[in-house]
Amino acid sequence: MQWNSIQKALYGLPIPDMRYYPITGSTNEDALAWAANGALEGSLVIADQQTSGRGRQGRKWITKAGTGLAFSFIFKPKKAELNYLQLFSPIGAVAVCQAIQMDYSIKAQVKWPNDVLLDKKKVGGILAESYWLDDQVKALVLGIGINLTPESVPEQSSLRFPATCLETECQHKIDPHTFLSSICSRIFSLRPILGSIDFLRIWDDFLAFKGEGVIIETDEDIKTKGMLKGLDAEGNLILQNYNGNETIYRMGEVRLLPEP
Ligand code: BTN
Repeated sequence: MQWNSIQKALYGLPIPDMRYYPITGSTNEDALAWAANGALEGSLVIADQQTSGRGRQGRKWITKAGTGLAFSFIFKPKKAELNYLQLFSPIGAVAVCQAIQMDYSIKAQVKWPNDVLLDKKKVGGILAESYWLDDQVKALVLGIGINLTPESVPEQSSLRFPATCLETECQHKIDPHTFLSSICSRIFSLRPILGSIDFLRIWDDFLAFKGEGVIIETDEDIKTKGMLKGLDAEGNLILQNYNGNETIYRMGEVRLLPEP
């Protein structure tokens, strides 16, 4: 990654300020610190290498130099967006799927709520974190990590879900700057429809395992099997249990795995 090429690729997008780190701990952590120190709405933190990147549910997300994308947007949610803060991370996942499908012509899917899958293997993850002051959300950091080259894929033995990278799945080299720019512009196009039925439809269309058997695991390690039906009007997951009843699962509370 090179600073000049990143700036060129992102030219024209509504990004008022950017910070690029050849190496950092976590772009989300950098972005949260920047948000607390006056970052402007839409500012972006990008890193080539991440040594202690954060994943969901306390997991790590390490990015080796020159192998993937690791970046975090700082958004200052508008009043109308405050009811839909949990939908920022699906926006990230949908933007990545759209960019992959439109630019590289391969099918991308979202493992609810916001893992990006290619051929049912994870290629990217999203972590949204908020910066609070008193009892108000002052900024939302939308962090996105994507495996581009084979070197970016962690050892399968360390993973609960299979992983892949974009270059393996589309069988050619990827220009990281062009891909980054495509994702960013899609995030800006999706944000105005956050919370709308249109956005839920787009997200639902990308859902992986729809109509298939899945297992939902809670933090208390309770496992429920059923058929994944889709999203409800708030983006919660509808699971049809094998006795025909439907159960609604909220984001952040559960993990989803395909039935073996
Ligand atoms: C997950 O799937 O668990 C979410 C992974 C999110 C990783 C990205 S990489 C850029 C940003 N900075 C971080 O520390 N995490 C996110």
